Amino acid sequence: MPTETTTPVVQALSGLGRTVCVTGAGGFIASWLVKRLLEKGYTVRGTVRNPDDPKNDHLRALEGAADRLVLLRADLLDPDSLHAAFSGCEGVFHAASPVTDDPEKMIQPAIRGTQYVITAAADTGVKRVVFTSSIGTVYMNPYRDQNKPVDDTCWSDLEYCKKTENWYCYAKTVAEQSAWEVARMRRLDLVVVNPVLVLGPLLQPTVNASTDHVMKYLTGSAKTYVNAAQAYVHVRDVAEAHVLVYEAPGAHGRYICAESTLHRGELCRILAKLFPEYPIPTKCKDEVNPPAIGYKFTNQRLKDMGMEFVPVLQCLYETVKSLQEKGMLPVRPTNDQDQRLLTA
Ligand SMILES: NC(=O)c1ccc[n+]([C@@H]2O[C@H](COP(=O)([O-])OP(=O)(O)OC[C@H]3O[C@@H](n4cnc5c(N)ncnc54)[C@H](OP(=O)(O)O)[C@@H]3O)[C@@H](O)[C@H]2O)c1
Repeated sequence: MPTETTTPVVQALSGLGRTVCVTGAGGFIASWLVKRLLEKGYTVRGTVRNPDDPKNDHLRALEGAADRLVLLRADLLDPDSLHAAFSGCEGVFHAASPVTDDPEKMIQPAIRGTQYVITAAADTGVKRVVFTSSIGTVYMNPYRDQNKPVDDTCWSDLEYCKKTENWYCYAKTVAEQSAWEVARMRRLDLVVVNPVLVLGPLLQPTVNASTDHVMKYLTGSAKTYVNAAQAYVHVRDVAEAHVLVYEAPGAHGRYICAESTLHRGELCRILAKLFPEYPIPTKCKDEVNPPAIGYKFTNQRLKDMGMEFVPVLQCLYETVKSLQEKGMLPVRPTNDQDQRLLTA
């Protein structure tokens, strides 16, 4: 059984005396990013839509938050609120975005919101923006060579995203393309991180979309798994990658942030081995076609910068333990406990 990994040793306090802003600070990834930035000594402005909402209390409880974290009210569709949040910051981490396939909720905040963020950053003299994009802007393209790993030169096909009604990938792709375009016009230094599906312990008090990807296999709500494969990465690695590319003077372009690919069946088998007490599906919904392979990728650009990725098995283990510890997933008796109960 894996043991939980500990927080990486705090290296040099490279953020001392430096102020940065993180948009959507209360989200799954952004919360870990705020934590890491505070650990490194940065002063952090976190934008949230409602600073008084108790769902953001976990941020105020982070080490260093009392002295170096301010939560500011901002909405992606309100440029003035972004302008006010970025004023006086040397860097901006743009993580806020809806994570949904509902076009009504997704398209405007992701695309227009990102354009407003880049514009506000340029207007306020921010030195570098790190944008949390997605692998969804990279691999969703039926015309690419499926045997070749996707890299930072690949782009999703917008017509294909529309045709398949993959509005998340559509909006993130247009958002990232607009970010590059506005940054080029405004001569703003932009670096992009493209994470694959992100898992790991939660800091925030609610289950986010990517965590639900695992949760549904533990609660019994998914009776079968789909014939699909995809790549995973640990949330702490995603936060680390953001800080790494922010701090490296020569960082540029897009950085695919991924550990390894699993077929959904393999994911369920690992979960069942680690947590046999849950009703994890054993059957594939598609019993006709061969198992899907999933996209191949390269994470070499981040490895070249010294990134070491947490293995996916560890990542799955920590995700489930965190859901249990937060009371989001009922702890069920294990075989051992059953045995103890029987012999008690
Ligand atoms: N999780 C993944 O697997 C994954 C993978 C690749 C890329 N990403 C990207 O990573 C980023 C963070 O994702 P996450 O998984 O951490 O999602 P999350 O937990 O749902 O967080 C999203 C955040 O965006 C904020 N937000 C949404 N609409 C907004 C708006 N109109 N104005 C201001 N803030 C808004 C939300 O604020 P409220 O709390 O106010 O709703 C929330 O804090 C997103 O850009 C996502 O596309 C995620």
